Amino acid sequence: MTTVRDLGTKAGEEPITMLTAYDAPTAAIVDEAGTDVILVGDSVGNASLGYETTLPVTVEDMARHVGAVSRATDEALVVADMPFLSFGVDEADSLENAGRMIKDAGASAVKLESGPHTVELTERMVELGIPVMAHLGLTPQHVNQYGGYPRQGTDQDAAERILELARQHEAAGAFSLVLEHVPANVAADVTDAVEMPTIGIGAGPDCDGQVLVVDDAIGLSEWSPSFSKQFGNVREEMETAVADYIDAVESGEFPADEHSHEADDLEDIY
Ligand code: KIV
Ligand code: NA
Repeated sequence: MTTVRDLGTKAGEEPITMLTAYDAPTAAIVDEAGTDVILVGDSVGNASLGYETTLPVTVEDMARHVGAVSRATDEALVVADMPFLSFGVDEADSLENAGRMIKDAGASAVKLESGPHTVELTERMVELGIPVMAHLGLTPQHVNQYGGYPRQGTDQDAAERILELARQHEAAGAFSLVLEHVPANVAADVTDAVEMPTIGIGAGPDCDGQVLVVDDAIGLSEWSPSFSKQFGNVREEMETAVADYIDAVESGEFPADEHSHEADDLEDIY
């Protein structure tokens, strides 16, 4: 099993690989391929649940998907994303919700979209034995504040705020930091400034690791951001398979003799 400590050891030696997964078969494939970290992202909302944003995703949704992924994962570190308003409103609720991801659903760590309001909470969680992955730069739970998904940290002040928050979360005990959609030079500077491994998405090549939404990486998503890369074309594979199935049923080719079996010793039942 990969632990949060293993990531610290690997950082700076070899790139850390992280992908999302939301279900058991995908998690098994991602795990067997040797991915270091599987993130059960609240991106499950867009990727699998048909929502426009991550905002409607609930603790129940996350617990269900984290459970599926944990049951199918042998080696990778499973990190559970904390959904919108499940943390940061009330400390006791935040801890209980994070605890569900670890105790009930089987994750080994949680990820919080971070800001000034998560420094103390991160410290408290770590104190209690819940490893925390921080997340700075573009935090999609702020979509209504941003009015979209714009790149972050693009001026001096904003870049310095990200660096300061990275330092504060490291001091609070976060074991790793996701940097999303920030300039590559900002991500490089943050990576230099902190000890904890940084994992980038749309953050250039100089982070300690990279993460993508698995649906984007395998080519299943209908749409994916310009900073992601499609390494396969699963959507096309599925379209072809489904069309072939329909053709085969409509033409009478399926099911064939080898897909059917009769029980010879039965009499007609009508
Ligand atoms: O929910 C998610 O998939 C994420 C990653 C993109 C970092 O937060
Ligand atoms: Na997320």
